[in-house]
Formats: sequence, structure tokens, C-alpha cells
Amino acid sequence: MKGLVLSGGAGTRLRPLTYTGAKQLVPVANRPILFYVIDNLIDAGIDDIGIIISPETGREVEAALGDGSAFGARFTFIVQDRPAGLAHAVLTARSYLGDSDFVMYLGDNLIGTKIRQSVAEFRADPSLAGWVMLKEVENPSQFGVAVVDAAGNVTSLVEKPAVPPSNLALVGIYFFRTSVFDAILRIAPSRRGELEITDAIAKLIELGGKVRFARVTSWWLDTGKKDDMLLANDTVLDEWLVHDVAGEVCPASRLVGRVRVAPGAKIERSTVRGPVIIGAGATIRDARVGPFTSIGERVLVERSTVEHSVLMEGAHISDIRRLEDSLIGKRVCVRPSSARHGSLSLMVGDDCVVEIEGG
Ligand code: G1P
Repeated sequence: MKGLVLSGGAGTRLRPLTYTGAKQLVPVANRPILFYVIDNLIDAGIDDIGIIISPETGREVEAALGDGSAFGARFTFIVQDRPAGLAHAVLTARSYLGDSDFVMYLGDNLIGTKIRQSVAEFRADPSLAGWVMLKEVENPSQFGVAVVDAAGNVTSLVEKPAVPPSNLALVGIYFFRTSVFDAILRIAPSRRGELEITDAIAKLIELGGKVRFARVTSWWLDTGKKDDMLLANDTVLDEWLVHDVAGEVCPASRLVGRVRVAPGAKIERSTVRGPVIIGAGATIRDARVGPFTSIGERVLVERSTVEHSVLMEGAHISDIRRLEDSLIGKRVCVRPSSARHGSLSLMVGDDCVVEIEGG
């Protein structure tokens, strides 16, 4: 069985971070989301993995992943020339997939469970044409939605319906056999102009294919917006972070709870309350950090308090009384302006959101 990871797409919901990078590479607890996706596939015994990339961010994704050897896998990069939909991406990968059954996994989906058991069940039952993962949600209209029967079969599906027929959302993880190609060739683009995988699965069922499902009972984060990203960061730090201090902690500092300090990071005269991860080469000086905070490589935090935030590599935070609930991109500088009564002095790129004290 092969893997097909979708790592293209425009990432409009995560602007401005996605102007300069792929959304799948946005870090959660200092690791790109995409790495957790690869981990899950490898855990299920899938190490021959095709990665769909876009012309815009493909090089960056390739550089981050390498050829797969670092993961114990083999990657094949496949360019999808335009964002024409998830089912179009599958068609693009046709020659790579060949006769193989495959797991299709959206590179921006993070779930709290392994897919190993579901993969084993799908492989063991050749009568199945497909398999989807479903999660009960409060806002099904924002997702693909499935209707299921008591025997465990999916009976119908619809993409982002205004009036959802159930509260079961399609998580971005699907298993297929080659029969899916026939279904994809019979669907038309949706209202948003894309070949939807949801429509292809509905067609597969209409053509007589049996599609079963597993319920995702753990958390699922379809990392779309700032608050989703912060929640993903909280959850991964909370559940997976292991206390490990390899960097330098000077005696006048205090670490409380689970804290991971990478080699080459320095903590001077500061308090860090876990869960917190601090990347290589970062400096925390005369500061308070945490809880629920990820500090990227080479970040500097000095004379500041930072809580419940993600600071990406090279960011500098100096003399800030309290930074909270923030997602700070690479090499961003946050510091007080030099004098000038109550005025702000900003240099902020397109689509940024700056929230300051009112009045
Ligand atoms: C896509 C699918 C949708 C699925 C979702 C999961 O939506 O079209 O059916 O529920 O991924 O993340 P999109 O992210 O393209 O809006």
C-alpha cells in the first residue's frame, strides 16, 4: 500500500504566514504539521509515499522533507500544476500510484490517533472500495459530511452543505483502491471549480462500491486559522511533549513542568512554565515564558512575558510586558517604539492582524 500526501494548496486561511511558505510546513510544537502526517503513515507500515506539491511552495516542501531517508521512507514528489481539487490531485498521481491501494492524507490535518488499525482492517477486506475517517463536529457545514448506516457503511456524502445531513465530518484521511479513478473520471467540478474527493467517493458508492468508516474519537485539527493553530500547538504540547533539557539553563532560572530545551538554546535568569518547547539556538533572557508556548530556533525573548503563543524561528521579542495568544512569523521583531507619546511605529506585511491595547 502506498501513501499520497497532499501538500499543495494556497493556504489562504493562514495568511500572512502562507505568503512565504506552505501551510503544511507551519510548525506545531516546533515541527511542521506535515511531519506528523508522515509519522502516522510510517507507523501504519506505509513507507512508499507520494507527495503532491504545488509549483509555488513545492521546492520548500521538498527541501524540508528530503528524499525520505531521514524518516525511514521513500518520497516521490509530484507537481499538481494548479489547485484544481483533491480528486484532481489523485488523478495527477495516477502513474505514481499504479495498481497500488493507497492512503490519501491531507498534509494539514493533525489527529490524535494512529491510523494503523483502520489501515489493517481495510487491507484485510478486499470487498471494500474505500474507507473514510469521520469525526462528530459542531460545524459540519465547513467540511465534507457523510451519512452512515447501522451496518457501518457510508451511504452518502456531500461537500460543505448549507444544511448538513449529519454531524459527521470527513477528516482528511481516505483509503482507496484503483477503482477510485473510474469514479473521479465521472464527476464534474464543484461550485468552487474543483474536482472534489467527496463527490468522487459519493460516485464510488453510486457505482456499487462499498465504503466503510472509522470514527475519530480523539482530537482532530484541520489547521485553518490562527486560533486553530494555537489549539493544535496546545494539544500537541499537552499530549506529546517529553521533558528533556539539552540546552543551557543558568542557575538563576526556573523550569516548571514539562519543558523541552534543544541543544544550543540558553535560558538566563528566566522562568519557563511547561508545557513549553524551546528550539536550538534560542535565547530566553530575563523573561517569563509559558505555559503552552513554542519557541522556534534562534528566537530571542528578553525582558518580556510570553504565554500561549507560537514564535517561529528568528523572531525577537524585547521589553514586551505581556504577549499572549499570538502567532509570530519568522524573523518578526516585536519591541516598544522609541518614545513619541503613545504612538505606534509599525512595519507589518500584508494581511497581518495587530491587536493592541485600545484607548
Ligand atoms: C477538504 C475536503 C473536506 C474535508 C476537509 C478536511 O476541505 O474538501 O471534505 O472535510 O478537507 O480537512 P478544504 O480544506 O479543501 O476546505
